Amino acid sequence: MSAIFNFTFVPWFRSVAPYIHMHRGKTFVVGMAGEAVAAGKLQHIAQDLALIQSMGVKIVLVHGFRPQVNEQLQAKGHAARYSHGMRITDEVALDCAQEAAGQLRYEIEAAFSQGLPNTPMAGSTVRVISGNFITARPVGIVDGIDFRHSGLVRKVDVGGISRTLDFGAMVLISPFGFSPTGEAFNLTMEEVATSVAIALQADKLIFLTEIPGVRVKPLEAEGEDNPIDTELPLAAAEQLLAGLPAAQNPTDTAFYLQHCVKACKAGVERSHIIPFAVDGSLLLEIYVHDGIGTMVVDEKLEELREATADDVGGILQLIEPFERDGTLVKRDRTEIERDISNYTIIDHDGVIFACAALYPYPEAKTGEMAALTVSPQSQGQGDGEKVLRRVEQRARAMGLESIFVLTTRTMHWFLKRGFVQVDPDWLPDARKRKYNWDRRSMVFVKKLV
Ligand SMILES: CC(C)(COP(=O)(O)OP(=O)(O)OC[C@H]1O[C@@H](n2cnc3c(N)ncnc32)[C@H](O)[C@@H]1OP(=O)(O)O)[C@@H](O)C(=O)NCCC(=O)NCCS
Repeated sequence: MSAIFNFTFVPWFRSVAPYIHMHRGKTFVVGMAGEAVAAGKLQHIAQDLALIQSMGVKIVLVHGFRPQVNEQLQAKGHAARYSHGMRITDEVALDCAQEAAGQLRYEIEAAFSQGLPNTPMAGSTVRVISGNFITARPVGIVDGIDFRHSGLVRKVDVGGISRTLDFGAMVLISPFGFSPTGEAFNLTMEEVATSVAIALQADKLIFLTEIPGVRVKPLEAEGEDNPIDTELPLAAAEQLLAGLPAAQNPTDTAFYLQHCVKACKAGVERSHIIPFAVDGSLLLEIYVHDGIGTMVVDEKLEELREATADDVGGILQLIEPFERDGTLVKRDRTEIERDISNYTIIDHDGVIFACAALYPYPEAKTGEMAALTVSPQSQGQGDGEKVLRRVEQRARAMGLESIFVLTTRTMHWFLKRGFVQVDPDWLPDARKRKYNWDRRSMVFVKKLV
């Protein structure tokens, strides 16, 4: 094993830990476009889903089958017909859809049954259960066009799906629904996944798609100045959708976005559009801070706020590596618990990414900013500065005229932000008595008035 492996693997694995804890017991509905299977991505997607499930996430997988149905139609010399962005399912198309769904189910079940040694599936036991969980109704005749066996979701069997998930199985749903008369209807994967996510009030709806996400300028070509918008607040997503042309094809920006918006409006907190073309995109989206595709979210994820007792564990986790390497002075849990109201934090999606504490010395009209930390993976994005500004506000609100820091390594950061170096003698008497002359920290002060 290479000597540096420990130093990369261990911190990397630990950085994932908060997400593993956060997602345990949550329900994710994954809508996988049939194109992903056609592109040969099924094996890796199954491996990633099995891993995510093994970390305690309940998964409902809804597969699409657009290219597979079209392939069958082509083999039968029958043209695929669409209207209003939806398939018109005549008798032949219904047969093709049933054949394609049957074939795909076998392939998916087989992919989850792999377990060869030295593969990510070694030792995994994923039980996949499918069923008649969806009741459908016909689309009917729209603008004079008879959609025949194309249907819409009428009801989702929440109890049946929940019990299956609680039993530890992964639920696999094909885009089919049945009417009370026993008739089968061809549905769209996107509608089924969205309806299931809403009915279950899932924690996430994730579309694994042929598009990489929604671009910052959605109607312009990709480019360095037009990256993927990783986080779209619901209101912004709705506004964007209102200005886009109606979606006809899965590659149209509005196509998946409309379902994400619908799900979020109906109580699913986060809906994601991620590319199946990127290997491991599910893992990257779920276990990495910024993710890889676009997430529509019904809340302000990043929150700059004052800490509460619930944040002690997160703060300890954040500052501990910097205490170990000597950048910060060691603080134990009791001390942080006692002083928790002095802390300001940035909380992103339940994980604490930045913190700082303010210890006032009112008699000297100053206060110490201590334990300023931004997690290594989000440094350099202005979070340190945001926390500093909030600490300054808090200090001003207390009537303090300056704040000071003691640092051994980060002097330039403070100098750039208006601090000036002073002699340790400058410190208020109460702080001077605790000054560690061996550590020889430098003292920097910033005037607030
Ligand atoms: C210092 C720290 C809080 C800054 O947080 P941040 O979110 O990365 O800061 P910002 O994004 O607001 O600012 C980034 C800038 O600071 C610079 N910077 C980061 N760490 C620095 C350091 N130790 N010394 C000097 N400059 C530093 C970056 O190069 C970047 O410079 P640029 O704007 O010219 O590109 C963060 O690096 C950290 O947590 N460090 C470890 C703990 C620590 O040293 N705390 C201070 C103890 S007194």
